Amino acid sequence: MNILLIGSGGREHALAWKISRSPLTETLFIAPGNAGTFECGINVAMSENNFEQIRSFVVKEKVDMVVVGSETPLVNGITDFLASHDDTKHICVVGPNKLSARLEGSKDFAKQFMMRHQIPTAAYRTFTKDDLNAAVDFLKTLKPPYVLKADGLAAGKGVIITEDFDEAVAELHHILADAKFGDAGHKVVIEQFLKGIEMSVFVLTDGVSYKILPVAKDYKRIGEGDTGLNTGGMGSVSHVPFVDEAMMQKIENRIIRPTIEGLQAEGMDYRGFIFFGLINVEGNPYVIEYNVRMGDPETQSVMPRIKSDLVPLMASLKDRTLHQHTLETETMQAATVVLVSAGYPGKYEKGEVISNLYAVEGSMVFHAGTVVDDQEHILTNGGRVLAVTSLANTLEEALERSMKNAEKIDFEGKYYRHDIGKDVL
Ligand code: AMP
Ligand code: GLY
Repeated sequence: MNILLIGSGGREHALAWKISRSPLTETLFIAPGNAGTFECGINVAMSENNFEQIRSFVVKEKVDMVVVGSETPLVNGITDFLASHDDTKHICVVGPNKLSARLEGSKDFAKQFMMRHQIPTAAYRTFTKDDLNAAVDFLKTLKPPYVLKADGLAAGKGVIITEDFDEAVAELHHILADAKFGDAGHKVVIEQFLKGIEMSVFVLTDGVSYKILPVAKDYKRIGEGDTGLNTGGMGSVSHVPFVDEAMMQKIENRIIRPTIEGLQAEGMDYRGFIFFGLINVEGNPYVIEYNVRMGDPETQSVMPRIKSDLVPLMASLKDRTLHQHTLETETMQAATVVLVSAGYPGKYEKGEVISNLYAVEGSMVFHAGTVVDDQEHILTNGGRVLAVTSLANTLEEALERSMKNAEKIDFEGKYYRHDIGKDVL
Protein backbone atom coordinates (compact mmCIF):
# COMPACT_ATOMS: atom_id res chain seq x y z
CA MET A 1 0.00 0.00 0.00
CA ASN A 2 0.97 3.60 -0.47
CA ILE A 3 0.34 5.54 2.69
CA LEU A 4 0.29 9.27 3.43
CA LEU A 5 0.77 10.29 7.06
CA ILE A 6 -0.14 13.89 7.84
CA GLY A 7 1.75 15.77 10.55
CA SER A 8 5.20 16.77 11.71
CA GLY A 9 5.57 16.00 15.41
CA GLY A 10 7.03 13.29 17.59
CA ARG A 11 3.71 11.47 17.43
CA GLU A 12 3.99 11.33 13.64
CA HIS A 13 7.58 10.09 13.76
CA ALA A 14 6.47 7.26 16.07
CA LEU A 15 3.55 6.44 13.75
CA ALA A 16 5.85 6.62 10.72
CA TRP A 17 8.32 4.29 12.43
CA LYS A 18 5.55 1.76 13.11
CA ILE A 19 3.99 2.03 9.62
CA SER A 20 7.37 1.75 7.89
CA ARG A 21 8.01 -1.61 9.58
CA SER A 22 4.94 -3.18 7.97
CA PRO A 23 5.51 -5.52 5.02
CA LEU A 24 2.29 -4.09 3.56
CA THR A 25 3.78 -0.61 3.26
CA GLU A 26 5.16 0.07 -0.21
CA THR A 27 5.76 3.81 0.00
CA LEU A 28 5.19 5.96 3.06
CA PHE A 29 4.87 9.70 2.53
CA ILE A 30 4.89 12.10 5.47
CA ALA A 31 3.54 15.62 5.02
CA PRO A 32 5.32 17.72 6.06
CA GLY A 33 7.31 15.43 8.39
CA ASN A 34 10.58 16.32 10.12
CA ALA A 35 14.26 15.31 10.13
CA GLY A 36 13.32 11.99 11.78
CA THR A 37 10.42 10.89 9.57
CA PHE A 38 12.91 11.28 6.74
CA GLU A 39 14.34 7.89 7.80
CA CYS A 40 10.93 6.18 7.58
CA GLY A 41 9.70 7.43 4.23
CA ILE A 42 9.49 10.40 1.91
CA ASN A 43 8.82 13.83 3.37
CA VAL A 44 6.48 15.95 1.27
CA ALA A 45 6.26 19.71 1.72
CA MET A 46 2.50 20.15 2.07
CA SER A 47 0.46 21.94 4.66
CA GLU A 48 -1.90 19.73 6.65
CA ASN A 49 -4.78 22.10 5.97
CA ASN A 50 -4.37 22.47 2.21
CA PHE A 51 -6.93 19.81 1.29
CA GLU A 52 -6.83 20.47 -2.48
CA GLN A 53 -3.07 20.02 -2.54
CA ILE A 54 -3.35 16.83 -0.48
CA ARG A 55 -6.03 15.55 -2.86
CA SER A 56 -3.89 16.15 -6.00
CA PHE A 57 -0.96 14.47 -4.29
CA VAL A 58 -2.80 11.33 -3.23
CA VAL A 59 -4.32 10.95 -6.69
CA LYS A 60 -0.96 11.40 -8.42
CA GLU A 61 0.90 9.03 -6.07
CA LYS A 62 -1.90 6.43 -5.94
CA VAL A 63 -2.15 6.63 -2.17
CA ASP A 64 -4.39 3.95 -0.61
CA MET A 65 -4.50 5.18 2.96
CA VAL A 66 -4.25 8.57 4.66
CA VAL A 67 -3.42 8.62 8.37
CA VAL A 68 -4.20 11.97 9.97
CA GLY A 69 -1.92 12.69 12.94
CA SER A 70 -3.30 15.90 14.38
CA GLU A 71 -6.73 17.26 15.15
CA THR A 72 -6.85 20.43 13.08
CA PRO A 73 -7.37 18.87 9.63
CA LEU A 74 -9.92 16.48 11.14
CA VAL A 75 -11.90 19.26 12.79
CA ASN A 76 -11.67 21.11 9.45
CA GLY A 77 -13.18 18.10 7.67
CA ILE A 78 -10.38 16.43 5.72
CA THR A 79 -12.11 13.04 5.99
CA ASP A 80 -15.38 14.31 4.49
CA PHE A 81 -13.41 16.24 1.85
CA LEU A 82 -11.59 13.14 0.57
CA ALA A 83 -14.77 11.04 0.79
CA SER A 84 -16.70 13.56 -1.27
CA HIS A 85 -14.49 13.48 -4.37
CA ASP A 86 -14.75 10.67 -6.91
CA ASP A 87 -10.99 10.40 -7.34
CA THR A 88 -10.32 10.01 -3.59
CA LYS A 89 -13.43 8.41 -2.12
CA HIS A 90 -11.89 4.91 -2.29
CA ILE A 91 -9.07 5.95 0.06
CA CYS A 92 -9.06 4.66 3.62
CA VAL A 93 -8.80 7.70 5.89
CA VAL A 94 -7.71 7.01 9.46
CA GLY A 95 -9.41 9.81 11.35
CA PRO A 96 -13.07 10.68 12.02
CA ASN A 97 -15.36 12.83 9.92
CA LYS A 98 -16.02 16.47 10.71
CA LEU A 99 -19.10 15.85 12.84
CA SER A 100 -17.35 13.25 15.01
CA ALA A 101 -14.21 15.39 15.27
CA ARG A 102 -16.33 17.91 17.19
CA LEU A 103 -15.72 15.64 20.19
CA GLU A 104 -12.37 17.45 20.31
CA GLY A 105 -13.30 20.59 18.39
CA SER A 106 -16.02 21.65 20.84
CA LYS A 107 -15.85 20.95 24.56
CA ASP A 108 -19.53 21.78 24.90
CA PHE A 109 -20.39 19.26 22.17
CA ALA A 110 -18.28 16.60 23.94
CA LYS A 111 -19.93 17.34 27.29
CA GLN A 112 -23.42 17.08 25.80
CA PHE A 113 -22.47 13.80 24.13
CA MET A 114 -21.25 12.40 27.46
CA MET A 115 -24.43 13.54 29.21
CA ARG A 116 -26.62 11.85 26.58
CA HIS A 117 -24.76 8.58 27.05
CA GLN A 118 -24.25 8.70 30.82
CA ILE A 119 -20.47 8.72 30.48
CA PRO A 120 -18.81 9.84 33.74
CA THR A 121 -17.33 13.34 33.51
CA ALA A 122 -17.13 16.49 35.66
CA ALA A 123 -20.41 18.39 36.20
CA TYR A 124 -20.50 21.51 34.03
CA ARG A 125 -22.37 24.39 32.48
CA THR A 126 -21.75 26.25 29.23
CA PHE A 127 -22.02 30.03 28.82
CA THR A 128 -21.76 32.59 26.02
CA LYS A 129 -21.00 36.31 26.04
CA ASP A 130 -24.69 37.04 26.54
CA ASP A 131 -24.80 35.24 29.85
CA LEU A 132 -21.65 36.55 31.50
CA ASN A 133 -23.56 37.47 34.66
CA ALA A 134 -25.05 34.00 34.90
CA ALA A 135 -21.55 32.56 34.43
CA VAL A 136 -20.24 34.61 37.35
CA ASP A 137 -23.22 33.51 39.47
CA PHE A 138 -22.48 29.89 38.59
CA LEU A 139 -18.81 30.34 39.57
CA LYS A 140 -20.00 31.58 42.98
CA THR A 141 -21.74 28.26 43.58
CA LEU A 142 -18.50 26.31 43.00
CA LYS A 143 -15.63 25.60 45.33
CA PRO A 144 -12.11 26.44 44.09
CA PRO A 145 -10.12 25.50 42.12
CA TYR A 146 -12.19 26.84 39.22
CA VAL A 147 -11.92 25.15 35.83
CA LEU A 148 -12.70 27.25 32.73
CA LYS A 149 -12.42 25.90 29.20
CA ALA A 150 -12.66 27.74 25.90
CA ASP A 151 -15.06 25.68 23.81
CA GLY A 152 -12.97 25.36 20.64
CA LEU A 153 -9.42 24.40 19.68
CA ALA A 154 -6.93 26.69 21.40
CA ALA A 155 -3.61 24.90 20.81
CA GLY A 156 -3.62 23.36 24.29
CA LYS A 157 -3.95 26.76 25.99
CA GLY A 158 -7.72 26.92 26.36
CA VAL A 159 -7.99 25.42 29.85
CA ILE A 160 -7.62 27.73 32.84
CA ILE A 161 -7.50 26.36 36.37
CA THR A 162 -7.23 28.81 39.23
CA GLU A 163 -7.80 28.91 43.00
CA ASP A 164 -8.56 32.61 42.81
CA PHE A 165 -12.19 33.66 42.30
CA ASP A 166 -11.32 37.15 41.00
CA GLU A 167 -8.87 35.70 38.52
CA ALA A 168 -11.52 33.23 37.33
CA VAL A 169 -13.96 36.10 36.76
CA ALA A 170 -11.28 38.12 34.94
CA GLU A 171 -10.49 35.11 32.70
CA LEU A 172 -14.18 34.67 31.94
CA HIS A 173 -14.26 38.26 30.69
CA HIS A 174 -11.07 37.78 28.69
CA ILE A 175 -12.40 34.72 26.93
CA LEU A 176 -16.01 35.75 26.37
CA ALA A 177 -15.95 39.54 26.12
CA ASP A 178 -12.39 40.23 24.87
CA ALA A 179 -12.25 37.09 22.67
CA LYS A 180 -8.82 36.09 24.02
CA PHE A 181 -9.04 32.81 22.08
CA GLY A 182 -10.96 34.26 19.13
CA ASP A 183 -13.86 32.13 17.94
CA ALA A 184 -12.66 29.22 20.08
CA GLY A 185 -13.80 31.20 23.11
CA HIS A 186 -17.26 32.01 21.78
CA LYS A 187 -18.48 29.66 24.52
CA VAL A 188 -16.94 28.73 27.85
CA VAL A 189 -17.42 25.49 29.71
CA ILE A 190 -17.14 25.89 33.48
CA GLU A 191 -16.72 22.60 35.24
CA GLN A 192 -16.26 20.92 38.57
CA PHE A 193 -12.62 20.32 39.50
CA LEU A 194 -11.76 16.62 39.71
CA LYS A 195 -8.92 15.52 41.91
CA GLY A 196 -7.00 12.46 40.90
CA ILE A 197 -4.28 11.05 38.71
CA GLU A 198 -4.59 11.24 34.92
CA MET A 199 -4.13 8.55 32.31
CA SER A 200 -4.41 8.34 28.54
CA VAL A 201 -6.39 5.51 26.98
CA PHE A 202 -6.43 4.98 23.22
CA VAL A 203 -8.62 2.90 20.98
CA LEU A 204 -8.68 2.28 17.28
CA THR A 205 -12.25 1.96 16.04
CA ASP A 206 -14.07 1.36 12.75
CA GLY A 207 -17.19 2.78 14.37
CA VAL A 208 -18.53 -0.61 15.38
CA SER A 209 -15.76 -2.61 16.97
CA TYR A 210 -12.64 -1.32 18.66
CA LYS A 211 -9.20 -2.35 19.86
CA ILE A 212 -7.72 -0.95 23.05
CA LEU A 213 -4.09 0.16 22.70
CA PRO A 214 -1.56 0.14 25.55
CA VAL A 215 -2.45 2.64 28.27
CA ALA A 216 -0.10 5.56 28.87
CA LYS A 217 0.44 8.51 31.15
CA ASP A 218 1.90 11.81 30.06
CA TYR A 219 3.62 14.61 31.95
CA LYS A 220 2.24 17.98 30.94
CA ARG A 221 3.99 20.58 33.07
CA ILE A 222 7.40 22.04 32.26
CA GLY A 223 8.84 21.69 35.77
CA GLU A 224 9.86 18.72 37.87
CA GLY A 225 7.21 17.51 40.30
CA ASP A 226 4.61 18.58 37.71
CA THR A 227 4.99 22.29 38.37
CA GLY A 228 5.05 25.38 36.18
CA LEU A 229 3.42 26.03 32.82
CA ASN A 230 1.54 23.50 30.73
CA THR A 231 3.38 22.15 27.69
CA GLY A 232 2.50 19.84 24.83
CA GLY A 233 3.94 17.02 26.98
CA MET A 234 7.35 16.41 28.53
CA GLY A 235 7.37 12.64 28.72
CA SER A 236 5.25 9.52 28.93
CA VAL A 237 5.22 6.00 30.26
CA SER A 238 3.38 2.85 29.25
CA HIS A 239 2.12 0.71 30.88
CA VAL A 240 0.74 2.63 33.87
CA PRO A 241 1.05 0.63 37.11
CA PHE A 242 -2.19 1.90 38.75
CA VAL A 243 -4.29 0.98 35.72
CA ASP A 244 -4.86 -2.63 36.72
CA GLU A 245 -7.37 -5.08 35.30
CA ALA A 246 -10.20 -3.89 37.55
CA MET A 247 -9.64 -0.25 36.49
CA MET A 248 -9.43 -1.30 32.84
CA GLN A 249 -12.78 -3.10 33.16
CA LYS A 250 -14.40 0.05 34.56
CA ILE A 251 -12.88 2.13 31.77
CA GLU A 252 -14.16 -0.23 29.11
CA ASN A 253 -17.65 -0.70 30.58
CA ARG A 254 -18.33 2.88 31.67
CA ILE A 255 -16.44 4.87 29.06
CA ILE A 256 -15.16 3.09 25.96
CA ARG A 257 -18.21 0.95 25.13
CA PRO A 258 -20.80 3.67 25.84
CA THR A 259 -18.78 6.05 23.66
CA ILE A 260 -18.64 3.67 20.67
CA GLU A 261 -22.31 2.76 21.11
CA GLY A 262 -23.20 6.44 21.43
CA LEU A 263 -21.38 7.29 18.20
CA GLN A 264 -23.24 4.52 16.42
CA ALA A 265 -26.62 5.44 17.89
CA GLU A 266 -26.16 9.02 16.70
CA GLY A 267 -24.96 8.04 13.24
CA MET A 268 -21.56 9.63 13.78
CA ASP A 269 -19.15 7.97 11.37
CA TYR A 270 -16.01 7.49 13.43
CA ARG A 271 -13.11 5.57 11.93
CA GLY A 272 -9.83 6.31 13.56
CA PHE A 273 -8.12 6.68 16.90
CA ILE A 274 -9.95 7.95 19.97
CA PHE A 275 -7.90 9.33 22.83
CA PHE A 276 -9.71 9.29 26.16
CA GLY A 277 -8.08 11.73 28.57
CA LEU A 278 -9.14 10.18 31.89
CA ILE A 279 -8.73 10.91 35.56
CA ASN A 280 -8.87 8.34 38.34
CA VAL A 281 -10.97 9.77 41.17
CA GLU A 282 -10.79 7.39 44.13
CA GLY A 283 -10.81 4.32 41.93
CA ASN A 284 -13.38 5.56 39.42
CA PRO A 285 -12.48 6.79 35.93
CA TYR A 286 -13.91 10.09 34.58
CA VAL A 287 -13.44 11.65 31.16
CA ILE A 288 -11.51 14.93 31.22
CA GLU A 289 -11.56 15.22 27.44
CA TYR A 290 -11.83 13.40 24.16
CA ASN A 291 -9.21 13.84 21.47
CA VAL A 292 -9.80 12.53 17.98
CA ARG A 293 -6.20 11.45 17.35
CA MET A 294 -3.33 9.87 19.22
CA GLY A 295 -1.51 11.72 22.02
CA ASP A 296 1.90 13.30 21.88
CA PRO A 297 4.19 12.16 23.58
CA GLU A 298 2.08 9.10 24.51
CA THR A 299 2.33 7.68 20.97
CA GLN A 300 6.12 7.47 21.35
CA SER A 301 5.61 5.08 24.29
CA VAL A 302 2.56 3.31 22.86
CA MET A 303 3.79 2.39 19.35
CA PRO A 304 6.82 0.38 20.52
CA ARG A 305 4.46 -1.59 22.77
CA ILE A 306 2.26 -2.75 19.87
CA LYS A 307 3.48 -6.09 18.61
CA SER A 308 0.95 -6.50 15.82
CA ASP A 309 1.33 -4.87 12.46
CA LEU A 310 -0.85 -1.76 12.72
CA VAL A 311 -1.25 -1.26 8.96
CA PRO A 312 -3.81 -4.05 8.32
CA LEU A 313 -5.79 -2.88 11.37
CA MET A 314 -5.92 0.67 10.09
CA ALA A 315 -6.71 -0.52 6.55
CA SER A 316 -9.70 -2.49 7.89
CA LEU A 317 -11.47 0.69 8.99
CA LYS A 318 -12.66 1.42 5.45
CA ASP A 319 -14.89 -1.66 5.17
CA ARG A 320 -15.42 -1.99 8.92
CA THR A 321 -13.67 -5.33 9.36
CA LEU A 322 -11.57 -4.45 12.40
CA HIS A 323 -13.26 -7.30 14.31
CA GLN A 324 -11.38 -9.78 12.10
CA HIS A 325 -8.03 -8.56 13.44
CA THR A 326 -6.20 -8.91 16.73
CA LEU A 327 -3.97 -6.41 18.45
CA GLU A 328 -1.13 -7.98 20.39
CA THR A 329 0.82 -5.91 22.84
CA GLU A 330 4.32 -6.10 24.20
CA THR A 331 4.63 -6.80 27.94
CA MET A 332 7.81 -4.71 28.15
CA GLN A 333 7.55 -1.22 29.64
CA ALA A 334 8.15 1.97 27.69
CA ALA A 335 9.45 5.31 28.92
CA THR A 336 9.75 8.52 26.88
CA VAL A 337 11.65 11.65 27.85
CA VAL A 338 11.15 14.79 25.76
CA LEU A 339 14.03 17.19 25.11
CA VAL A 340 12.88 20.79 24.66
CA SER A 341 14.43 24.13 23.72
CA ALA A 342 15.39 26.66 26.42
CA GLY A 343 12.44 28.94 27.16
CA TYR A 344 9.74 26.51 26.01
CA PRO A 345 6.71 26.69 26.43
CA GLY A 346 7.41 30.42 26.18
CA LYS A 347 9.69 32.04 23.59
CA TYR A 348 12.58 29.87 22.40
CA GLU A 349 15.33 29.87 19.79
CA LYS A 350 15.38 27.66 16.71
CA GLY A 351 18.29 26.56 14.53
CA GLU A 352 20.60 25.11 17.21
CA VAL A 353 22.78 22.26 15.95
CA ILE A 354 21.89 18.88 17.49
CA SER A 355 24.88 16.62 18.11
CA ASN A 356 25.67 13.23 19.59
CA LEU A 357 22.54 11.56 18.23
CA TYR A 358 24.85 8.72 17.13
CA ALA A 359 25.88 8.18 20.78
CA VAL A 360 22.41 7.00 21.79
CA GLU A 361 22.45 3.36 22.84
CA GLY A 362 19.47 1.10 23.44
CA SER A 363 16.81 3.79 22.93
CA MET A 364 14.83 5.11 20.00
CA VAL A 365 14.88 8.79 19.20
CA PHE A 366 11.69 10.25 17.78
CA HIS A 367 12.03 13.70 16.27
CA ALA A 368 9.54 16.53 16.76
CA GLY A 369 10.86 20.04 16.04
CA THR A 370 13.87 19.23 13.85
CA VAL A 371 15.05 20.07 10.30
CA VAL A 372 18.05 19.19 8.18
CA ASP A 373 20.06 22.11 6.76
CA ASP A 374 22.06 22.33 3.49
CA GLN A 375 25.11 20.79 5.14
CA GLU A 376 23.08 17.85 6.48
CA HIS A 377 23.21 19.15 10.05
CA ILE A 378 20.15 18.37 12.13
CA LEU A 379 18.86 21.58 13.70
CA THR A 380 16.26 22.37 16.34
CA ASN A 381 13.09 23.73 14.77
CA GLY A 382 10.53 23.84 17.58
CA GLY A 383 9.86 23.85 21.31
CA ARG A 384 9.71 20.12 21.69
CA VAL A 385 12.73 18.84 19.80
CA LEU A 386 13.24 15.12 20.38
CA ALA A 387 11.73 12.25 22.36
CA VAL A 388 13.94 9.47 23.69
CA THR A 389 12.04 6.21 24.16
CA SER A 390 13.26 2.99 25.74
CA LEU A 391 11.67 -0.41 26.14
CA ALA A 392 12.75 -2.63 29.03
CA ASN A 393 11.50 -5.35 31.32
CA THR A 394 10.84 -2.87 34.10
CA LEU A 395 9.81 0.77 34.06
CA GLU A 396 12.83 1.66 36.22
CA GLU A 397 15.16 0.25 33.60
CA ALA A 398 13.35 1.92 30.71
CA LEU A 399 13.45 5.28 32.51
CA GLU A 400 17.08 4.93 33.41
CA ARG A 401 18.06 4.21 29.82
CA SER A 402 16.00 7.10 28.42
CA MET A 403 17.54 9.49 30.95
CA LYS A 404 21.06 8.32 30.16
CA ASN A 405 20.54 8.87 26.45
CA ALA A 406 18.74 12.19 26.99
CA GLU A 407 21.90 13.31 28.80
CA LYS A 408 24.13 12.35 25.85
CA ILE A 409 22.27 14.22 23.12
CA ASP A 410 23.43 17.79 22.87
CA PHE A 411 22.07 21.12 21.69
CA GLU A 412 22.30 24.64 23.05
CA GLY A 413 19.63 25.17 25.71
CA LYS A 414 18.53 21.53 25.96
CA TYR A 415 16.14 20.90 28.85
CA TYR A 416 14.28 17.81 30.04
CA ARG A 417 12.54 16.60 33.15
CA HIS A 418 14.47 14.10 35.24
CA ASP A 419 11.40 12.95 37.18
CA ILE A 420 9.31 11.39 34.40
CA GLY A 421 7.62 8.22 35.66
CA LYS A 422 8.86 8.58 39.24
CA ASP A 423 5.35 9.21 40.57
CA VAL A 424 4.02 5.85 39.35
CA LEU A 425 6.98 3.63 40.22
P1 AMP B 1 -6.57 19.95 28.19
O1 AMP B 1 -5.82 21.15 27.64
O2 AMP B 1 -8.00 19.89 27.77
O3 AMP B 1 -5.79 18.69 28.01
O4 AMP B 1 -6.64 20.17 29.77
C1 AMP B 1 -5.48 20.49 30.42
C2 AMP B 1 -5.43 19.86 31.75
O5 AMP B 1 -6.33 20.49 32.65
C3 AMP B 1 -5.86 18.40 31.83
O6 AMP B 1 -4.89 17.52 31.39
C4 AMP B 1 -6.08 18.27 33.33
O7 AMP B 1 -4.86 18.14 33.99
C5 AMP B 1 -6.67 19.61 33.68
N1 AMP B 1 -8.13 19.52 33.81
C6 AMP B 1 -9.04 19.71 32.84
N2 AMP B 1 -10.30 19.57 33.32
C7 AMP B 1 -10.19 19.30 34.63
C8 AMP B 1 -11.12 19.06 35.69
N3 AMP B 1 -12.44 19.08 35.49
N4 AMP B 1 -10.64 18.80 36.90
C9 AMP B 1 -9.31 18.79 37.13
N5 AMP B 1 -8.37 19.01 36.19
C10 AMP B 1 -8.80 19.27 34.95
N1 GLY C 1 -0.40 14.40 25.44
C1 GLY C 1 -1.61 15.09 25.34
C2 GLY C 1 -2.04 15.40 23.98
O1 GLY C 1 -1.54 14.88 23.00
O2 GLY C 1 -2.98 16.17 23.85
